[in-house]
Amino acid sequence: MLDAQSRQKDFPSLGQMTYLNTAAEGIAPLAVHEALNRYFKDKQQGMAGRDAHFATRDSALKLVGEMYGLSADEVNICSCSSEAYNLAAMALRLKEGDEVIINDLDFPAGTTPWLQPGCPAKAKVWRSRGGALRTEDLVPLLGPKTRMLTVSYVSFFNGFTVNVPSIAQAVRKHSPALLAVDVTQALGRVPLELREADLIVSSTHKWILASHGGGLVGIPKRVEDQLTVPAGGWFNLKNAFDADRFERAVSKPGAASFGVGMPNFPAIYPIEAAIKYIQSVGVEQIDRTMRPIVNHCLDELLKLPVEVITPNEKQAISGILAFKHPSMDKISQYLLSKNVHVMSQAGRMRVAIHGYNTAADVDRLLAVLKEALSHV
Ligand SMILES: Cc1ncc(COP(=O)(O)O)c(C=O)c1O
Repeated sequence: MLDAQSRQKDFPSLGQMTYLNTAAEGIAPLAVHEALNRYFKDKQQGMAGRDAHFATRDSALKLVGEMYGLSADEVNICSCSSEAYNLAAMALRLKEGDEVIINDLDFPAGTTPWLQPGCPAKAKVWRSRGGALRTEDLVPLLGPKTRMLTVSYVSFFNGFTVNVPSIAQAVRKHSPALLAVDVTQALGRVPLELREADLIVSSTHKWILASHGGGLVGIPKRVEDQLTVPAGGWFNLKNAFDADRFERAVSKPGAASFGVGMPNFPAIYPIEAAIKYIQSVGVEQIDRTMRPIVNHCLDELLKLPVEVITPNEKQAISGILAFKHPSMDKISQYLLSKNVHVMSQAGRMRVAIHGYNTAADVDRLLAVLKEALSHV
């Protein structure tokens, strides 16, 4: 686990602030800076640099596979979660009468592809109760027409952390739907149970500590026929340079169909370096160490005159806590003036606690928050 010395060495900027906003932007370790330099050096070789680019990509795919519990040929790297979901929407080839289930704790990337006027499917909303998504509320929404259910492992909104096996059990029992899980707010922070997921997506600039510009896609072989994207491009096609290329476009199956053009190497080098870094610290170790600190923060927030919107269910939270207050803007300005960084957006304030945070960060947040509350 990180200690004061490795924290200072790997994340020098953390010494200058109380940073509790990883759910918006992770702080990349210096290993990611080195990876970006390596990318630039390889790029200077022109076409000859492609050997190194593709070798780095192969290594990154293997590592993404390890994080997702899949093999390297069951994962791919596109450019963001939104792109991954839009490509998935194409792959489903939805028809009139089909249904997709979204939920009210999710980030727009996982909900809006099905809300566009051109989407023939009906989107049904799984509504949270007391900040939690309950499986018993999901069951009545499922049926023979449900094609996909999208859910975030950890909600960007309030940190509620779902139980994928129990959702999968309901989905399998009551529908033929595919289960899509967005792990953006979980990857690198909590151990993941993803065996039942049919589609996994993640952004790369948050808890996994890489750069912008990555979208990590996972599709197990068992469902690749159902999740093959019929998109134009070339890197995704089997026959891009064959004699029949002006007659037909033949997609590679499953995950391979989610990378339509030249791989995004400036994002892939950081992804490779960041996953290696996270693995060297250990996700289980991060979760075990930070859990008491998160629990303490929740307990203390519950004593303050704010409306905590994270459910007080310790087994269903991970790194994110959220609360509401009518003077949220003033509070967040005050926190910022004291160099305490949290998120203030979508009608709530959000605290994010990663492995590079400390109990002292949380104590400082709570102390400054109390001061702010006494002023507003
Ligand atoms: C759950 C979740 N998914 C996706 C994203 C981002 O999507 P994209 O990679 O398309 O920017 C966020 C936050 O920005 C998020 O919280």
